[in-house]
Amino acid sequence: MSEPLLRVREIHTYYGDSYVLQGVSLELHEGRIVAILGRNGMGKTTLIRSVAGLTPPRRGDVIFKGRPLRDQPPYAIAQQGMAIVPQGRRIFRSLSVRENLLLPTSRLARPAAGAGARRTRWDLDGILEEFPQLAERIDHPGGTLSGGEQQMLAVGRALMANPDLILMDEPSEGLAPLLVRQIERIMQSVRKHGHSILLVEQNFELAMSVADHIHVLASGRFVFQGTPGALSREGEVLDHHLGVSGRR
Ligand SMILES: Nc1ncnc2c1ncn2[C@@H]1O[C@H](COP(=O)(O)OP(=O)(O)OP(=O)(O)O)[C@@H](O)[C@H]1O
Ligand SMILES: [Mg+2]
Repeated sequence: MSEPLLRVREIHTYYGDSYVLQGVSLELHEGRIVAILGRNGMGKTTLIRSVAGLTPPRRGDVIFKGRPLRDQPPYAIAQQGMAIVPQGRRIFRSLSVRENLLLPTSRLARPAAGAGARRTRWDLDGILEEFPQLAERIDHPGGTLSGGEQQMLAVGRALMANPDLILMDEPSEGLAPLLVRQIERIMQSVRKHGHSILLVEQNFELAMSVADHIHVLASGRFVFQGTPGALSREGEVLDHHLGVSGRR
């Protein structure tokens, strides 16, 4: 198999003396969705922060497109083709939808050619076509959008940087079931456009329906890794680590 787009090799990540990720490894191949499932406080956001260089691992390696990211600041990592859809969305509430979407392009403008050239190249028109609800609210302040629309805006903003890899931190958090299904469709569409996604979730059904591969994180270590089909047969993991036994 070809070199993975992202390879996380035995990372150990701390906040001061607090030892959070205790030897985590994963691989993500181009065009795939890999999901990390785990309860509150298990280290999901820390994994995203480790990959993006926001809280670099103290030991181990994050290798993106074949190159180790060690000692690189977050902006340099972003410029290599990584974008985050952060937990809680973090859109700019007082800026309009248009301003939110246009913000990253000046700082993270990337060359059009090279790896991933078969992917869609996003611009404002493309995003508004993909998310008609945002087009309708283009001049509204971000803070006036519904939770689902804010999540769309956060995804649209990430796409505007034309990343190879999108890191999504609990996109379904706080959304009603109907909106979670909308997020699911958005993720499937984003994948169809050729993007790769590392998804962190607590929503079991969402991860099971979109991911090619799932890792279950418990207290800083993976207690399961495999396909959604394999996870559905792991009664012990479902029961103890996800609290969803008998759901499938
Ligand atoms: N900035 C920080 N400083 C110290 N400890 C932190 C910091 N951020 C997180 N932690 C701790 O690290 C552990 C993992 O936190 P993390 O945010 O990665 O969990 P999570 O799986 O994303 O949880 P949630 O589902 O609630 O978002 C927790 O025990 C948390 O209290
Ligand atoms: Mg989190």
